[in-house]
Amino acid sequence: MMDSSKLDHSAYFGRIHGILMYKPFIEFWDDVEAFEARPDDIVIAAYPKSGITWVSEIIDMIHKEGDVEKCKEDAIFNRVPYLECRKDGVMNGIKQLKQMASPRRVKTHLSPELLPASFWEKNCKMIYLCRNAKDVVVSFYYFFLMVDGHPHPGSFQEFAEKFMDGQVPYGSWYKHAKSWWEKRKNPHVLFLFYEDMQEDIKREVIKLIQFLGKKPSEELVDKIVQHTSFQEMKNNPSTNYTILPDEVMNQKISPFMRKGIVGDWKNHFTVALNEKFDTHYEEEMKGSTLNLRTEI
Ligand code: A3P
Repeated sequence: MMDSSKLDHSAYFGRIHGILMYKPFIEFWDDVEAFEARPDDIVIAAYPKSGITWVSEIIDMIHKEGDVEKCKEDAIFNRVPYLECRKDGVMNGIKQLKQMASPRRVKTHLSPELLPASFWEKNCKMIYLCRNAKDVVVSFYYFFLMVDGHPHPGSFQEFAEKFMDGQVPYGSWYKHAKSWWEKRKNPHVLFLFYEDMQEDIKREVIKLIQFLGKKPSEELVDKIVQHTSFQEMKNNPSTNYTILPDEVMNQKISPFMRKGIVGDWKNHFTVALNEKFDTHYEEEMKGSTLNLRTEI
């Protein structure tokens, strides 16, 4: 039987500047806003479940010049700390970052508006990864089921409606994606697509290496492509989150490295939901030139 407290969303989420957010994060939000960036910080941003772990591993591989063993020395959430993440005794992104040597690799799910101003003031390099909304909903649904700190998402249909309504942590996917898309012309921002990475990972890895001002030698690119494939990352304890106990992340319910494909939404959306989602999507994205592929 499901614990009835798992049905009360307000027990888990509050609001910060109108955006739904995990309650334990909100408690220390002053620390997030006051965060002092360093000019050489590298920000890796994405809406939840867009593949941020994949890009984080690539960025850390670039930083470590393709040294796989060095990357395997610690879990991804220690090598690329999650800025706004706060959970007593488990996670404190800000503390980790304060103690980290430069150049810091910073993971965040924040929109440009919620990102600490200091990152903009210091002209830090930022990478935004965007994934099509339909696959994000599916991935987020399983994430709700397997990660502590989430209420029960209800049926997939119910969850999809919450998502469309922006009633999930980090709020509206549509606003998040459009807002970062507006930042793409900033030379310090690199806008990437999960679907492009699936289509041609080599091309995207080269883009990332060049964005960080390094030379994309064939050897480095090949090593990164090999080490960050879905299968490699699924089997690698430093990237697959199996280091976390079941109470925090229960991978028996669903693995963190779940499917890693484009188009799994087709296995979850009914025809009716798909039509409703598409109509709502068009309305939300009206006037934006941002185009995402839901299949490749
Ligand atoms: P699925 O649930 O669709 O499988 P995040 O890292 O932002 O939490 O996103 C997790 C999603 O990225 C999951 O999607 C996961 O499988 C996918 N992912 C992680 N590493 C990947 C990789 N190396 N290649 C392809 N997809 C990957």
